[in-house]
Amino acid sequence: MPVITFANTKGGAGKTTAVLLLATELARLGFRVSVLDADPQHWITRWYENSEGARGNRLHVVPYVTMSTIDRQLAEEKARADFVLIDLPGSRSSLLAKAVGHADYVLIPVQGSAMDAQGGANVIELLQYLEDKANIRIRHSVVLTRVNSMVTTRAMNAVKDLLAARRVHLLETPIVERSAFRDIFGCGGTLYSMDARQVSNLDKAQENARALALEVLRQIPSAVSVDGHGMKEVA
Ligand SMILES: Nc1ncnc2c1ncn2[C@@H]1O[C@H](COP(=O)(O)OP(=O)(O)OP(=O)(O)O)[C@@H](O)[C@H]1O
Ligand SMILES: [Mg+2]
Repeated sequence: MPVITFANTKGGAGKTTAVLLLATELARLGFRVSVLDADPQHWITRWYENSEGARGNRLHVVPYVTMSTIDRQLAEEKARADFVLIDLPGSRSSLLAKAVGHADYVLIPVQGSAMDAQGGANVIELLQYLEDKANIRIRHSVVLTRVNSMVTTRAMNAVKDLLAARRVHLLETPIVERSAFRDIFGCGGTLYSMDARQVSNLDKAQENARALALEVLRQIPSAVSVDGHGMKEVA
């Protein structure tokens, strides 16, 4: 089943947040989802342990994924899940190369800053290398993260121009800066178990996660077909 690797060699680009949003939303749409947690900060693992009851039984998290365990863990999760998501550390490593090499689709979260764009460019160079040297072509997209819902910044436009010049695919759905996307790690649960009276713009956060998941599903046509309502059909 499709493997989606989240990669940016710059720390703090928004990888773990994007993984959690996509994983919970895909599970909500009815898919079985496994997350391989290779982030040394283990945020997804901590969230998972803290979220029993709210997360449902379609979502599974594998903690402590390392270079020496990833092959076996990936094979096991591919056998049981409709989607396997890999959360990586924010650094260059042999684990990054391996997780990217195993992916059917690579999502590159990038904040609107030059440093983040450079971390994304490192991943794109690796993908290019795999294509040139090994003829391995892996579909990939950049997703803009922590985007201000009110204003478009100059830095964000610069990143967009850079991507267009390099012909890198950019998801239409950015991940907006939302307190819900931060709070979810602290309080556990999902965007649907949070209290709308305590979390501002929760409905907009839910809509953002849903739009992200539907757009990602459209990027993996061999695995799923999506109708206008987000229903799924695994091939
Ligand atoms: N869309 C968002 N809205 C609000 N806060 C966000 C959003 N995306 C990320 N953050 C916050 O930014 C910080 C870094 O995000 P995150 O941990 O997802 O990045 P990362 O790429 O996984 O980092 P690392 O490379 O260290 O693993 C966290 O404090 C997170 O809560
Ligand atoms: Mg992380």
